[in-house]
Amino acid sequence: MNKVLEVTGLEGGYGNVQILYGIDLHVDQGEFVTIIGPNGCGKSTFLKVLFGLTTLHNGAVLHNATDVSGWRTDKLVKRGIAYVPQVDNVFPSLSVKENLLMGGLGLKSSEVSRGIERSCKMFPDIKYRMNDLAASLSGGERQMLAISRALISNPSFLMLDEPTAALSPRYQQEILANIDSLRNDGISVLVVEQNARLSLARSDRGYIFSSGEVVYSGSAENILHDPKIGEYFLGLNTAEGE
Ligand SMILES: Nc1ncnc2c1ncn2[C@@H]1O[C@H](COP(=O)(O)OP(=O)(O)O)[C@@H](O)[C@H]1O
Ligand SMILES: [Mg+2]
Repeated sequence: MNKVLEVTGLEGGYGNVQILYGIDLHVDQGEFVTIIGPNGCGKSTFLKVLFGLTTLHNGAVLHNATDVSGWRTDKLVKRGIAYVPQVDNVFPSLSVKENLLMGGLGLKSSEVSRGIERSCKMFPDIKYRMNDLAASLSGGERQMLAISRALISNPSFLMLDEPTAALSPRYQQEILANIDSLRNDGISVLVVEQNARLSLARSDRGYIFSSGEVVYSGSAENILHDPKIGEYFLGLNTAEGE
C-alpha cells in the first residue's frame, strides 16, 4: 500500500522544548486516520511539526516516499499537503471570497477558480456567503470556510486539527461527513479530534497519544470496541496530568 505519510521516530517541540517523543505513524493512500488523546499531549504540536510550523528535532517524515523532514511549509503545500489549524483558521476581517483567494496565493487564477468551484460544490452554504465577512459566519460555516481554503491548493493529503470543536452536533456530523467524502476525490486525511467516537466511526485507523508518545494504534473498529481501550476514552476530556 502506498504510504502518503510515513513518520518514524519523530521528536519535536518548540525551540529546545521537547513535546513529542519518538512518534511512529503512517497514513496510507485513501485512508482516514484519527489521532486522539488528552488535552496537552502533543496532538496539535505533531501536526504543526509535520507542516513545518514548529521544530523537528529528530526522526523522519516521508511524503509519498520522499523525505520531507524539516521542509518549509510553502514547499510542503506545493507537494500537495494542506493543514487546517485548530484556531484562527479564517481571517475574520476578510470576506469569504477573499479568504478563499488567500488559500490560492501563488496559484494560477484558473486553478484558484477551479478550487473555489470545488469548495462551493462541497459546501453550498459558503457559496451564498461569498461577499460576507468571515466574522459574520457561524462556527460551522467558519470551519467549512477554513477547510475550503485549505482545499484551494488541490492537496492530496489534508491534516485537520479538531475540525468539529465547539460546533453543534448537527455541524459536527456534517463536517466529518464532508471530510470523509474527500476520500472520493483521492485526498487522504489525518484528523486530530476531541470528538473521538464521531471521528473514529468514519476512520480506518486511529492513534492514541499520551504525554507526547503513541500509546496505542490500531483499527478504528478496535479502538471503538475494545473495552481495554475504553479507559483512554474516559480520560480524554481531562488535561494531561490531572
Ligand atoms: N507555542 C508553544 N510554545 C511552547 N509550548 C507549547 C506551545 N504550544 C503548546 N505548547 C505545549 O505543548 C504541549 C502540547 O500541546 P498541544 O500540542 O497543543 O496539545 P494537544 O493538541 O494534544 O492538546 C503542552 O504542554 C503545551 O503547553
Ligand atoms: Mg490541540
